[in-house]
Amino acid sequence: MKSISLNITKAASFLAEGAVKAYEPKVKAAQEALENGTCEGNDFLGWLHLPSSITPEFLNEIQAVANTLREKCEVVVVAGIGGSYLGARAVIEGLSNSFAWLVNDKKNPTILFAGNNIGEDYLYELTSFLKDKKFGVINISKSGTTTETALAFRLLKKQCEDQRGKEEAKDVIVAVTDAKKGAARTCADKEGYKSFIIPDNVGGRFSVLTPVGLLPIAVAGFDVKQLVAGAADMEKACGKDVAFDENPAAIYAATRQALYTQAGKKIEIVCNFQPKLHYFAEWWKQLYGESEGKDQKGIFPAACDFTTDLHSMGQWIQEGERSIFETVISVETPNEKLLFPHDNENLDGLNFLEGKRVDEVNKMAELGTRLAHVDGGVPNILVNVPELNAYYLGQLIYFFEKACGISGLLEEVNPFNQPGVEAYKKNMFALLNKPGYEAESKAIQERLANEK
Ligand code: PA5
Repeated sequence: MKSISLNITKAASFLAEGAVKAYEPKVKAAQEALENGTCEGNDFLGWLHLPSSITPEFLNEIQAVANTLREKCEVVVVAGIGGSYLGARAVIEGLSNSFAWLVNDKKNPTILFAGNNIGEDYLYELTSFLKDKKFGVINISKSGTTTETALAFRLLKKQCEDQRGKEEAKDVIVAVTDAKKGAARTCADKEGYKSFIIPDNVGGRFSVLTPVGLLPIAVAGFDVKQLVAGAADMEKACGKDVAFDENPAAIYAATRQALYTQAGKKIEIVCNFQPKLHYFAEWWKQLYGESEGKDQKGIFPAACDFTTDLHSMGQWIQEGERSIFETVISVETPNEKLLFPHDNENLDGLNFLEGKRVDEVNKMAELGTRLAHVDGGVPNILVNVPELNAYYLGQLIYFFEKACGISGLLEEVNPFNQPGVEAYKKNMFALLNKPGYEAESKAIQERLANEK
């Protein structure tokens, strides 16, 4: 079986010789700290050996519940936000037909997402769309109290019960939440929904290989066994005893830290040349943004879809402030084959491409872009993916998770907390006069009055 691979040549050339290798002792210390649980945030290390600890029995249980939803639903709405949303969407969109929701072949339910925003139009349009559909809901929330998700779930639960009756609704609503606490747990237990537990020691953004990601992915019809197998193989490839030079997570973490601290590269842009990877980059952004952006430090994680964004962000990347580096996720072989046709008139002048695969053009665009950006002062890291399937996405997920854990420790922050995300919630609850927030409500009203 092939593996994803890393090439840092076009990034190392922006650094002093040996700058990446110089991180070896620090990376080793970070790896040891993760393994021994001696780092900050050590109560959230459940992801570290998660892939190798997932049993076939557990995956069979996930598959059985997924099959029930697949049999009984035309549409399954996955309600969740942040870590309770992005991993599932990344994998589902990465593996789906780009037009899946339009060309539904009836073999797989349509997967829709909710609970990741508070847009009234979005929820109105979603609930309108669902009016004549046999739909089910997967309600995902570790805390069980996240406003965006709870709000969407209340609407969806009621609609599902109204349309199918309370008894039948029970078979098509599944909760993925904490074992004991939170409103999602209370509701699942009271209503008798099938539920899965999010382990205490796995934080949201590291939870795609728990039922948070596995259940929606299985419902969408993708092979969760292969996904986990890929992640488990990458767990070995990134293990603490693998030599630094051969460990992709170690090299990636060290390279980006060297670019950040020694070359003034404050922004990392993850780029793809396959639109299906858009949500993979969204998942990556959350993983790195929430893990590293604290204590007034951290590489800013950004993402671009190429070649689309070369016609919007390309100018900035080529000639703007030289504070960026790129990490290109390159898919070696597409799953489908499409040849460029001949045209007798050749009005577009493109007959020179006749008979070539579309991907050959894409690959030259990719190489041309990487060379141009390097020439423009943008270091480039390449992550090569043999093909887009569940196995390699599993590898990619674990690779980025492991590198993220190491990176956070190299940066000397706790990579596993996210205290900053509470600030907006506190203000929102105060502004909405949520019970329990009386003092905050008073304070924020006074502040707003003074700012007038
Ligand atoms: O990574 C995280 O911890 C967050 O992004 C959470 O996943 C997100 O806020 C959703 O939280 P919850 O699953 O508790 O609803």
